[in-house]
Amino acid sequence: MNGSLRTPIRRAWLLSCALLIMAALALTAAAPALAQEGVPPQQPSALNPAGPNSAAIADVFNIVLIMATVVFVVVEGLIVFSAFRFRRKATDTSEPVQVHGNTKAEIAWTILPALIVVTLFVLALQTMQTLGTKPAAAEGQMTVKVIGHRFWWEYQYPDLNITTATDLVIPTGKVVNLELSSVDVIHSFWIPQLNGKTDAFPNHINTTWIQANIPGFYYGQCAELCGPSHANMRAVVIARTPEEFDQWVKEQQAPPVQSAEALAQQGQQVFLASACIGCHTISGTAAQGKVGPNLTHVASRTSIAGGMLTNTEGNIKRWLANPPAIKPDSVMPNLNLSQSNIDALTAYLQTLK
Ligand code: CUA
Repeated sequence: MNGSLRTPIRRAWLLSCALLIMAALALTAAAPALAQEGVPPQQPSALNPAGPNSAAIADVFNIVLIMATVVFVVVEGLIVFSAFRFRRKATDTSEPVQVHGNTKAEIAWTILPALIVVTLFVLALQTMQTLGTKPAAAEGQMTVKVIGHRFWWEYQYPDLNITTATDLVIPTGKVVNLELSSVDVIHSFWIPQLNGKTDAFPNHINTTWIQANIPGFYYGQCAELCGPSHANMRAVVIARTPEEFDQWVKEQQAPPVQSAEALAQQGQQVFLASACIGCHTISGTAAQGKVGPNLTHVASRTSIAGGMLTNTEGNIKRWLANPPAIKPDSVMPNLNLSQSNIDALTAYLQTLK
């Protein structure tokens, strides 16, 4: 090859490498965007399990990965070896010997893959059984009803008489049985570090369980296409120590404290006089709607709008000003609230600790 041909080839080669590196950098830069603003970024990876059933899933994945790697290396190795070992040499003048059929080889490449597939099948069955079977009735198991809405998650703690949304607060070390359902379309509850995907159907209860070993925030995402804001339907499990959890339960069970602040009181009047009460519940008031999230202790949550926005004054105002602009196809409509009403409502909602 002469020099004039070699240069364009090298240039194309360099360009391809540069493009690959840029693509890799872009993907790496995009990863932290998964974390909510103001909350420490975490990798919600199924390969970083934080509970026993997610650990069982990660184990199966690792075994499959190892087996697949061995198969890949052996098969590709044989291909590369054959290509070099049996390539046509300059001294070859005739066709190589043509062979057909090799009983031993054919038996081997039939039985070996069959054994591998059977092994994977048994492993998957065992893991499914682990995930589907509640652990023996250890003391203090609890149940949470997980209800999918377009586009947010509702959590009901029937034994504790608590209803909340978006933040699923659980105690560490305890088995939490989840009863999943949906009020509209099919959603799927998935906290990669804690459980496998479990569908939430209308008119049907699916069960699964989670257990978090250490306190922390475990992020998740609705995993079944459920409408224009499917990608905006987030979830977080907040695992707290048993003592912190008991404290949280006490706070959630108590009615919200009446604020002495004038703007917040004005906000409460706006709330109770407007369409808000048709959809939202605030304990101790006339607001008993069941369509949207229960707002009794909304100020105690980390996020609003189904996990899209961190729970800050600015974000509450943005949300109230035009919900569908932030979350396309949200059930909450644009109520065309005046700025003074938005300010008053925000002050009120922020007192609901
Ligand atoms: Cu709910 Cu996707």
